Amino acid sequence: MLEIKDVRAGYGAINVLWDLSLTIQPGKLTTIIGPNGAGKTTLLRAVMGLIKPSQGTISLNGAPLTGTPTWKMTDVSMAMIPEGRMTFRDMTVEENLMMGAFAPQHRSKAAANLEKSYQMFPRLRERRKQLAGSLSGGEAQMLAMARGLMSDPELLIIDEPSLGLAPVMVNELFEILGRLKQDGRTIVLVEQNTHRAVGVADHVYLMQSGKVVLSQPAAQVDLDHLHKLYFAR
Ligand SMILES: Nc1ncnc2c1ncn2[C@@H]1O[C@H](COP(=O)(O)OP(=O)(O)OP(=O)(O)O)[C@@H](O)[C@H]1O
Ligand SMILES: [Mg+2]
Repeated sequence: MLEIKDVRAGYGAINVLWDLSLTIQPGKLTTIIGPNGAGKTTLLRAVMGLIKPSQGTISLNGAPLTGTPTWKMTDVSMAMIPEGRMTFRDMTVEENLMMGAFAPQHRSKAAANLEKSYQMFPRLRERRKQLAGSLSGGEAQMLAMARGLMSDPELLIIDEPSLGLAPVMVNELFEILGRLKQDGRTIVLVEQNTHRAVGVADHVYLMQSGKVVLSQPAAQVDLDHLHKLYFAR
């Protein structure tokens, strides 16, 4: 579905991704794990068109994505839930959700998708008039996820959703990821919680210093070996 080939990208004179290649299969949950600074967020930014690769190609269902502006990504049925949640603090929960269906082609389905969001995240329904800035960390993450789902994307990209969450919220989060996967949605999950991420994934990539150092079906992953590579310098 999503094909990343030989991508080199970074920020100005600093290169971060070194000839990185990976494939995201439709209907599967692919997790990309790796230590701080490995380049995971940078890779997602390149996919979403926020930074331009200096080399390599990124294509979605065979069509090149490189050059597609970020604001057009919902046209091609992709949505990213960024690191740090990025909700609009001074807007209510419901207003934040409606922003997820702001693009004209999604507006007709906004009411139905809002109802689906509330079914999946009942706590957001209870708090729909509350300002997003006053939500707890866990609730804000749920809001960011629900907002990403408002355009009903085929491909959902999630950057470190468990960061800073209490264990019970982490459990809830992974339960929801499992449900989204069962619905047949294609998911890319960036995580540092290797244990949980491998548990929910179909395929695992480990990144280290801007490169893929391991690519394996999740069922074959040996966590001890993975952790050795993870902490290797
Ligand atoms: N806007 C930026 N300008 C310059 N350098 C950046 C910028 N954003 C990230 N970097 C650098 O790029 C490298 C990779 O960062 P990136 O955010 O992709 O890592 P990551 O794998 O997502 O890490 P984390 O797990 O901490 O989120 C780091 O060395 C970082 O300092
Ligand atoms: Mg990151």
